[in-house]
Amino acid sequence: MTKPSPDQASEASGLPEFPVTRPDSRPFDPDETYARLRAHAPVSPVRCPAGMDAWLVSRHEDIRSVLTDPRLSSRGAGSMHMLPSYDRCDPAPGSMIQLDGEEHARLRRLLIGEFTMRRMEALRPSVQRITDRHVDAMLTGSSADLVRDFALPIPSLVICELLGVPYDGHESFQRDSEVLIGFEADAATRDAATRRLEGYLGELVVRRRAEPQDDLLSRLIVRGEATENPPTVAELATLGVLLLVAGHESTANMIALSALVLMADQERTAALRAAPDTIGTAVEELLRYLSVIQFGLLRYATEDVTVGGTEVAAGSWLVAAIPSGNRGEEVFPAPDTVDLRRPPRAHLAFGFGPHQCIGQQLARIELQVALATLLRRMPGLRLAGPLAPSAFKHNDIVFGLRSMPVLW
Ligand code: HEM
Repeated sequence: MTKPSPDQASEASGLPEFPVTRPDSRPFDPDETYARLRAHAPVSPVRCPAGMDAWLVSRHEDIRSVLTDPRLSSRGAGSMHMLPSYDRCDPAPGSMIQLDGEEHARLRRLLIGEFTMRRMEALRPSVQRITDRHVDAMLTGSSADLVRDFALPIPSLVICELLGVPYDGHESFQRDSEVLIGFEADAATRDAATRRLEGYLGELVVRRRAEPQDDLLSRLIVRGEATENPPTVAELATLGVLLLVAGHESTANMIALSALVLMADQERTAALRAAPDTIGTAVEELLRYLSVIQFGLLRYATEDVTVGGTEVAAGSWLVAAIPSGNRGEEVFPAPDTVDLRRPPRAHLAFGFGPHQCIGQQLARIELQVALATLLRRMPGLRLAGPLAPSAFKHNDIVFGLRSMPVLW
């Protein structure tokens, strides 16, 4: 029997649209369709906003198997199924997140030593210093925008310091990275943003090659030169862009949303303030609950595979629905409840398998430091007024907040 690809299935029946709507009253919850899919159609064909059809994989266990299966390629890079202009399937050299097998492993090997627990822990004091500086600045006034004045600059400064990227270019790179994680920009605008970022990082790589400094970019160059197949300037520039964008966007949005979740329940927050050593557990729960990679991860079947009992033909797309897996009742009892004491279990917020987030330890430290510091130093933190629905980034690859006016 030949297996229908989702494209063929849609010709016959017309597929349901990819679920994208968060319930108005519960902005932190993924589209309600997911609970139904998990129960009745865990591998289900859908039509994606990008125009292609895909199998939507909604159960925790199946998502893990999708993200570890070497027959499923990463060439769709994260959430390309959401872009209106879907035309960048061919990975640029150095676009590690889109590469498979040895091509991916070659670059991952170069980076992995930079992101060990020990190296990341060594950054904690510097993350604390940067965080305290921002709290000091906010405390000189009586109100602030927690996104602009806290959540965004902290991870941006940390990743700039780590990479060796001058922070004075932050307005431009933050603007370009916003374009890349949004769905609104047309192909030309996205390409221009990518070219600007790659040009900027490319120039920096050339400078660091001539004069290495004590920064990650310089160490990558030196380590790369010692390998049989050293990375080119273009590869290093693309890798640098990935680290710069991935290194601040997701964390910034997680900090802002987490602060909002904490402010929404003063009792829960008081309990956390009273037990500061549980901040690590609380952060894992917030990562699970918020699942900011809100539309999941795209994969492409290079061979026929079976996922959760469903046969998927070579040439099909699949979406591993991270927010759905993180609400799987079989793994997380009462999954729609925030339980800051929930024992940390295998959440999928950082993905799984060979592409699992390389910066996860840094993100954890930034979140722990940022949230613990807000709890300690700004106990009266509260929203200045109700947030308009437009404050939420419902239309970006990374769920988050555009701005969040606060008082204390
Ligand atoms: C809360 C913050 C973060 C979240 C939720 C997050 C999430 C993710 C996810 C889900 C993936 C897997 C993508 C895939 O399988 O296609 C990923 C990969 C990646 N992340 Fe993160 N990330 C965060 C922070 C960071 C930070 C701070 C950095 C850098 C310092 C970073 C750098 C990367 C890189 C380079 C990859 C690609 C890894 C590879 O392809 O092997 N991320 N991230």
